[in-house]
Amino acid sequence: MSFVTGLTCHLCGATFPAAALWVCDQCLGPLEVHYDYPSIKARLTRALVESRPKNLWRYRELLPIEGEPRTGFHSGFTPLVRADRLAERLGLRELYLKDDSVNHPTLSYKDRVVSIAMTRAVELGFSVVGCASTGNLANSVASHAARLGLPCYVFIPAGLETGKVIASAIYRPQVVAIDGNYDDVNRLCAQVADAYGWGLVNVNLRAYYAEGAKTQGFEIVEQLGWRFPQHVVSPVAGGTLLPRLARAFREFAELGLAEGPLPRIHAAQAAGCAPVVRALEQGLDYPEPVKPKTIAKSIAIGNPADGFQVIRSVRASGGRGVAVTDEEIVAGIALLAETEGIFTEPAGGTTVAALRQLVEQETIPRGESVVACITGNGLKTIEAVSDRVGQPERVGRSLEAFQAYLGTQAAQENLLIG
Ligand SMILES: Cc1ncc(COP(=O)(O)O)c(C=O)c1O
Ligand SMILES: [Zn+2]
Repeated sequence: MSFVTGLTCHLCGATFPAAALWVCDQCLGPLEVHYDYPSIKARLTRALVESRPKNLWRYRELLPIEGEPRTGFHSGFTPLVRADRLAERLGLRELYLKDDSVNHPTLSYKDRVVSIAMTRAVELGFSVVGCASTGNLANSVASHAARLGLPCYVFIPAGLETGKVIASAIYRPQVVAIDGNYDDVNRLCAQVADAYGWGLVNVNLRAYYAEGAKTQGFEIVEQLGWRFPQHVVSPVAGGTLLPRLARAFREFAELGLAEGPLPRIHAAQAAGCAPVVRALEQGLDYPEPVKPKTIAKSIAIGNPADGFQVIRSVRASGGRGVAVTDEEIVAGIALLAETEGIFTEPAGGTTVAALRQLVEQETIPRGESVVACITGNGLKTIEAVSDRVGQPERVGRSLEAFQAYLGTQAAQENLLIG
């Protein structure tokens, strides 16, 4: 059973059927899925959600598919980790990590958006699928396409991390590396979708794709015991995730599934690619495009498709934007690993570094509850931290050799770290 009533233009309000349309033909605004909320309200209860399998389809009334899910049966419902050691280091009382670094099957938040977009692609009859990606999305699209047995083209900027490239290529899609940055890739993909009629998940399926990001927000609320945190910190690239966290919170409030004030949502970007944060600082409604230069390649998008929606969501929620340097990003990755045992990629390091600043500048008061979104896995981007970690200690194979090593000052110091 589907509760989708159609697509609505986010800018001018024009309505369209739920087809593979991605911009409004009246004003070129982005299209959003609209639902029959009164019918959802009459049906969807906390108990119904809780009775379902622990994956992202447990919120299916609020997701834009018509029939049964085709993929993503193990995606979503990632851990919400209480992070007391990190909280103590930052001076916070109540901190949680939404850990999409272990999302199934490709270890990033993108498995959410792809589960929905690929199911919709099959429903709409696309026989070739693909995406424009900074790496994680390509991994996810290639994996889901393999499982569905669909031909797949993923487009990436040349020069991505080796782990990201191989973690796409292994599924045998066609990987197309473009000489240019993500914004060049994205522009080409709009033409490709048009010219060949392929289902590119973040281009002509974008309205459906974006809805998948809401599931992260739904889960945060459910896993907190059906309550809102006071703050959420989210990384921003193309701007899909952050506004859909806001939308998820709003939908749960309107459906009576959670009560109380909505969270303040803060945007985290790398200083080398911070168009949204700069626009927030300068009071602009739209970001000015920038040329990315940062180690945080997964979030290096200089001209974010949903930038104005991010800006609006952050402002409406009472949140702030924070830009952090590459050094702070690496320090954020290390701090998260050392305190909570979670290895994230630079996007997650950006979130942690931004959180640290938000606490230091007292935008987030120390006594208030916070959820930080950890959206990707560090094993895909070992280049980012390989200079920072020590080399293994080479020791002979006898106990005497180990004892001799243990007598060194470095080994003694190591025993004191905790
Ligand atoms: C790991 C990771 N986190 C966050 C994002 C940002 O996502 P969005 O484009 O939804 O702003 C991306 C986007 O590529 C990503 O790969
Ligand atoms: Zn419009």
